[in-house]
Amino acid sequence: MGKKKSRFETEVIHSGYRTDEHQDSLVPPLYQTSTFTFSSAEQGERRFASQEEGFIYSRLGNPTVKILEERMAVLEQGEAGLAFSSGMAAVSAVLVALTKTGDHILCSQGVYGCTFGLLELLKEKYGIDHDFSLMNSKEALDQEIRPNTSCIYIETPINPTMKLVDLEMVAMIANKKGIPVVVDNTFCSPYLQTPLTLGCDVVIHSATKYICGHGDVIAGLIIGKKEFIRQVSRTTQKDIGGVISPFDAWLLLRGLKTLPVRMDRHCENTIKLFEFLKRHPKIESIYFPGNREHQDYSIAKKQMKQPGGLISFTIKGTKETAQQLINQLQLIKIAVSLGDAETLIQHPATMTHAVVPVEERRKMGIANTLLRLSVGLEAWEDIQEDLEQALERI
Ligand SMILES: Cc1ncc(COP(=O)(O)O)c(C=O)c1O
Repeated sequence: MGKKKSRFETEVIHSGYRTDEHQDSLVPPLYQTSTFTFSSAEQGERRFASQEEGFIYSRLGNPTVKILEERMAVLEQGEAGLAFSSGMAAVSAVLVALTKTGDHILCSQGVYGCTFGLLELLKEKYGIDHDFSLMNSKEALDQEIRPNTSCIYIETPINPTMKLVDLEMVAMIANKKGIPVVVDNTFCSPYLQTPLTLGCDVVIHSATKYICGHGDVIAGLIIGKKEFIRQVSRTTQKDIGGVISPFDAWLLLRGLKTLPVRMDRHCENTIKLFEFLKRHPKIESIYFPGNREHQDYSIAKKQMKQPGGLISFTIKGTKETAQQLINQLQLIKIAVSLGDAETLIQHPATMTHAVVPVEERRKMGIANTLLRLSVGLEAWEDIQEDLEQALERI
């Protein structure tokens, strides 16, 4: 009889782990080892030849890491997962696996700054071209896909402008043409959005963010079809080597257990923040998928369980006004990253997206007065009071 499928809140705690396979330890043990011993030369030969299951060397697989990978595959409703030393190690392993010289990548209109940097590097050094697309019309998308497009790469919500891409619509067009759709699901976590259930092929996470949730790990994950994950694990992960440390995987397993509880609180605080910003006279515009007037509100309703824990806004004034505002904050920390217990604020034009040329930033809608907040788990009243006092001083 197959294992009974449990609800998300149960799977984050139990899936991928059996106590009877690990000395009855309640919590997954930390296998902090670089290598594994073979009982004989012949066993070593069989393991290297994939004729026998078993671990060889932690760059090729580790029991603690395997539990994390299996758990994430369950949560994203994919066949298999693979963990990396950073979100960027995951992004680069996937893009290198899916492209070759002469290929083309079609991207959402706005990606994380370092992903943009990687796309530029692939173009300059290896002749792999890319374009950005609004992905808001079937007809336009059909035109933008070239004969040499080898993958579609999407962030939704788009960092930091919170525009959304209709994943089901893109996947439908891409599937017909046999082009894999890769989705960076960092902003949502599988609690809010599961792209594989909408027809997409690969999910990527900067696990540094909500998956970890405690701001103490840099890590990445990918989830997809067994065959693709196997291919990445044996090529762009094994040979480039961006593997996660067992300790970081162990910390992620610990953080994951509270993902639904944390996400509910992040989302609840963010809705309150939206209501506060909406009424404040010094705020010019707000970018939040939970806003009924947001251009992609219907997409949010369709594919996201809740609108998320991130909000961006522009302030009336100049770049300096935005910088003055964040300098006045006392509780809210000035820091890039997101998904932590602490509320964080950053200035994308000079921080996460500083590497993106001004013209591209303009197309992505990243103004000099734009600020992005990752809303934490603190008491809402304290977050509000800190913002109120800072806004009063500018
Ligand atoms: C949407 C998104 N993707 C990928 C990354 C890269 O992840 P990492 O910093 O773990 O390498 C980030 C980092 O901020 C991100 O925000």
